[in-house]
Amino acid sequence: MNYRHHFHAGNFADVMKHALLVRLMAGLQKKEKGFLYLDTHAGRGSYDLTSAEKGDTLVRQPEYPNGIGRLWTRTDLPESLAGYVALVKQFDQDRGGTGAAPRFYPGSPWIARLLARPQDRLALCEKHPEEFELLDIALAREPKVSLQERDGYGALRAMLPPPEKRALVLMDPPFEAADEFTRMVSAVEEGLQRLPAGVFALWYPLTERARVDAFFHGLLALKLPPTLMLELEIVGVRSDAKLKGCGLVVINPPWQFEHEAGPLLDWLGEALAQEPGAGSRCTWLVPETR
Ligand SMILES: C[S@@+](CC[C@H](N)C(=O)[O-])C[C@H]1O[C@@H](n2cnc3c(N)ncnc32)[C@H](O)[C@@H]1O
Repeated sequence: MNYRHHFHAGNFADVMKHALLVRLMAGLQKKEKGFLYLDTHAGRGSYDLTSAEKGDTLVRQPEYPNGIGRLWTRTDLPESLAGYVALVKQFDQDRGGTGAAPRFYPGSPWIARLLARPQDRLALCEKHPEEFELLDIALAREPKVSLQERDGYGALRAMLPPPEKRALVLMDPPFEAADEFTRMVSAVEEGLQRLPAGVFALWYPLTERARVDAFFHGLLALKLPPTLMLELEIVGVRSDAKLKGCGLVVINPPWQFEHEAGPLLDWLGEALAQEPGAGSRCTWLVPETR
């Protein structure tokens, strides 16, 4: 487990994932009944973006300037993104950021915590001991939050179905291991058996298209409920860049989620483009009418 998210915090992939997380939370909160937010790969909870530049042994090029940095001073944000950017700015300011540039960035645990209502509950899993220690320091005293130092995939068996009978599960693995896609598919299979109406959001990198196609093939073999596929490409398909973009599969998306996710991603496709050929995609893997 060498992956450390603080090198990547606030990059284009975080922007895409976290902006959609904000909208997913809002979608689930259209109903009064509370739900469980289960973060299988939580990370440390929040990030000081200046520490990314120092690296562990080598100086690193920070990634946030091409992510949240590009949205920081935009005055033309679409409504669907404004809530996410306002939340990040407030988080930064509350921790002492000057506001001139992003400094303190919330990870998915803090984003969910800040949006949770009294009736919602958070379960945050993190396997790396040092990341978990930081997560524990940051969020242990927060109400309605349980923290678990464990393998996040196994948490679906342990935590589902929740007493609320409603859940939003975010799976955001580091993709260090070759079997990460197949582990996600197995975890989804188990999760859907336990909570067929649960909302599952699965983040994945766009490196090799063939791996993503195999992932979809594995998912489709599960006979999924309605499932949306959302992708953001920051470079064209023929680019030499290793990470060309990222995606989020959303199983059982909230009603009409696609109508806000599609335009949101179109806007990000332009705002976060790094090379010609960038763009976005919002399509059903399994349509709602099925
Ligand atoms: C991409 S980061 C998570 C970022 C976080 N979801 C966010 O958006 O702020 C992936 C995290 O998963 C952790 N991790 C790796 N393997 C894990 C596993 N099997 N179970 C739980 N956490 C794991 C890593 O230590 C890392 O902190």
